[in-house]
Amino acid sequence: MGRLVVVSNRLADPRKPAAGGLAVALGETLRRTGGLWFGWSGKVVEGGTPGEGELHVHQAGSVTLAELDLCQDDHDAYYRGYANGVLWPVFHYRLDLAHFESGHLGGYRRVNQLFARKLFPLLKRDDIVWIHDYHLIPLAAELRAMGCEARIGFFLHIPLPPPPILTAIPSHEWLMRALFAYDLVGFQNHADLQHFAQYVQAEATAEPVGANQFRAFNSTVHAGAFPIGIDVADFQRLGRAKEARDTYESTKAEYSRRRLLIGVDRLDYSKGLPQRIRAFRELLRLYPENRHSATLLQIASPSREDVEAYGDIQRELESLCGSINGDFGDFDWMPIRYIHRTVARKRLPGLYRACAVALVTPLRDGMNLVAKEFVAAQDEEDPGVLVLSRFAGAAEQMKQALIINPYDTHGAAQVIQQALQMSLSERRERHAALMENIREFDVHWWCREFLDTLRATRAAPVAA
Ligand code: ADP
Ligand code: G6P
Repeated sequence: MGRLVVVSNRLADPRKPAAGGLAVALGETLRRTGGLWFGWSGKVVEGGTPGEGELHVHQAGSVTLAELDLCQDDHDAYYRGYANGVLWPVFHYRLDLAHFESGHLGGYRRVNQLFARKLFPLLKRDDIVWIHDYHLIPLAAELRAMGCEARIGFFLHIPLPPPPILTAIPSHEWLMRALFAYDLVGFQNHADLQHFAQYVQAEATAEPVGANQFRAFNSTVHAGAFPIGIDVADFQRLGRAKEARDTYESTKAEYSRRRLLIGVDRLDYSKGLPQRIRAFRELLRLYPENRHSATLLQIASPSREDVEAYGDIQRELESLCGSINGDFGDFDWMPIRYIHRTVARKRLPGLYRACAVALVTPLRDGMNLVAKEFVAAQDEEDPGVLVLSRFAGAAEQMKQALIINPYDTHGAAQVIQQALQMSLSERRERHAALMENIREFDVHWWCREFLDTLRATRAAPVAA
């Protein structure tokens, strides 16, 4: 069986904790299989030459890490400008936050060419190449142009919007055509796969040539839905270790007279944090018995702070939390504990277990792994309740969660109250069903399913 080569913009040392679904899932996958992980080193070189970057290759346990530096101009245009200033907002249905600048598209193409130039010489004949996420959509086309004939798969970790939104991107034809250089393109759920099918039929007049197989631009691409999961057993092992147990005990002791609700997210506008905080305020207004009792622990890790919209969301959140604590708080109780930090991964299961309710309420999310981690961390005898947005990819699978519409403040508050009041038997029933699902469709299933499907496809001809 060929070596696995994973390519993603964000790399993480698989031996160390990371925040962000992609790095967490791939770190866990690669630690098991070994192989090569190629991506950006995280280093930005001031004054470097655009389209150039030094590559550092080293061993991290069973994984070879190949880390590429980027110069300031490339990083600005490719990561900040195009990936996070155009693709991230549009793919999360936020056309209002997208800034289209042709220089950024140029930088995006340049960095994808640079990735291809540096990666191609490292590839062996029978490698299986798995490219991840919106930063690297044109990478396979660049590799094919250099003569790469390896099997190449692509997985999009974020949603794919329907054609009326996607086509607002000025270069959408070029972008979507680039997907036809892959052998297999994977999405998080069936809705996204449907959007892909709608796009290629309407815009590229592609013919479906079999189940989930499309032909256009002289190429055939296979597509499928592969919902990503977590490493349930590993996360539960983490939950039994000392750090998680200590965190559980100290959190329980500190909040002994309170009901805890928890949110754990990157500080991103897609996560619906202001809407969540407003729903919590509505809960306190509608159901006063929660005052002096319910506390929302919101942990938001700093993310993409050099992108304008992220500064705006941070200020909005700080002001909202401050005003609720000012309006409702008392000498011995603050309704919201807002922590702007990444929490050590080994403490997370303990925190999740100490909480009665998790609020996973994005406005749009490819999957959302926090929802799955929360369920995996619960004590099955006395489990907490998951409140989940209908707009998270996870809602397609996690039907026994309490599903909310995060835009409906009043409705969300009512559901949070339902979660806080749920009987033990109903909590157990829902938790058991959710556990069964996240166990069956865990990260190993995801990886196996994608790679087996990729291996079963024929290598695509060189893209036109
Ligand atoms: P995204 O990929 O958009 O960041 P996910 O919910 O899919 O969202 O994945 C987030 C991952 O990062 C999860 O594994 C979660 O535990 C971790 N994470 C997110 N925020 C924090 C935080 N503040 N501290 C520690 N880990 C975090
Ligand atoms: C999401 C994206 C990933 C990204 C992660 C963290 O999970 O799908 O591609 O790595 O967020 O964002 P960052 O910009 O810090 O890599």
